[in-house]
Amino acid sequence: MSSDAVNPAAVAQLPASGVPILDARSVTMQFGGLRAVNDVSLQVHTGEIVGLIGPNGAGKTTFFNCLTGLYKPTSGSVQFVGDQLPPKPRLAVRAGMARTFQNIRLFHNMTAIENVMVGMYVRTQTNALDAVFRLPRHRREERESLERARELLAFVGLTGSGDQLSRNLPYGDQRRLEIARALATEPKLLLLDEPTAGMNPQETRQAEELIFKIRDLGLAVLVIEHDMRFIFNLCDRVVCLVRGEVLVEGPPAVVQNDPRVIEAYIGMPADSSSDDSGQTPSVGGDDNA
Ligand SMILES: Nc1ncnc2c1ncn2[C@@H]1O[C@H](COP(=O)(O)OP(=O)(O)O)[C@@H](O)[C@H]1O
Ligand SMILES: [Mg+2]
Repeated sequence: MSSDAVNPAAVAQLPASGVPILDARSVTMQFGGLRAVNDVSLQVHTGEIVGLIGPNGAGKTTFFNCLTGLYKPTSGSVQFVGDQLPPKPRLAVRAGMARTFQNIRLFHNMTAIENVMVGMYVRTQTNALDAVFRLPRHRREERESLERARELLAFVGLTGSGDQLSRNLPYGDQRRLEIARALATEPKLLLLDEPTAGMNPQETRQAEELIFKIRDLGLAVLVIEHDMRFIFNLCDRVVCLVRGEVLVEGPPAVVQNDPRVIEAYIGMPADSSSDDSGQTPSVGGDDNA
């Protein structure tokens, strides 16, 4: 399986290095009396893998939702490839942002390959009428989509699973399938929300290799994860959020050894955040994405 499986030409019009592909400034998201994200700024560059860590309830997923158009931030701005991002998930995908979800969101009654093709339809020009009357253009696009979907499945390590219903795939494979579907939209930035949650150590290592391969295609990657070994090995830069605010940002070696980060995970009073799960930091929690 080579990185040729994904057409590098699909990674179109990357900005010059040094210019951030994602530029989030002072993003705040308020839910009633709760400021889930408070004045968070973050830049991500092409070819960079940035980690977002922090205890359950820190605001990581909410921040992702602000970046990807699911939420309109209460204040602040999100620029993507130099443009202000419209607060609509579909437009964010079209602009070149793709994400996976903390709680896997696949079409469970569709096959793996059909799930990937759904991601592709964001890019193809086929409209509903074409599909109904099966115009030649639609048939040709469908053939090409099928071929590319197979390549993407191979790229994420799911060769041979294409015809299985996604709900029948092992959990780790479902997470990889979600990544394949995200890649099918030809993103410039991939956002992964707890991609290794529920994976065994071997699957986690494979996920790490996969994310490096994705970065090597010329994408930027922003990844939320609780598995510290995974994050510090994978990322060029790590941002730690606590109670909606950036606590520390820096290279893994710096963040890893910052006593405030350790304290944020183990020293937080049980009743001081929304983390009512009582789980250890290696286990993801809530259900808002
Ligand atoms: N849609 C929402 N409405 C109200 N509160 C929310 C919503 N989404 C998240 N929250 C709250 O915002 C805080 C941050 O949650 P979240 O972003 O899911 O944290 P994390 O992903 O870091 O675990 C939590 O207190 C959570 O309960
Ligand atoms: Mg979350």
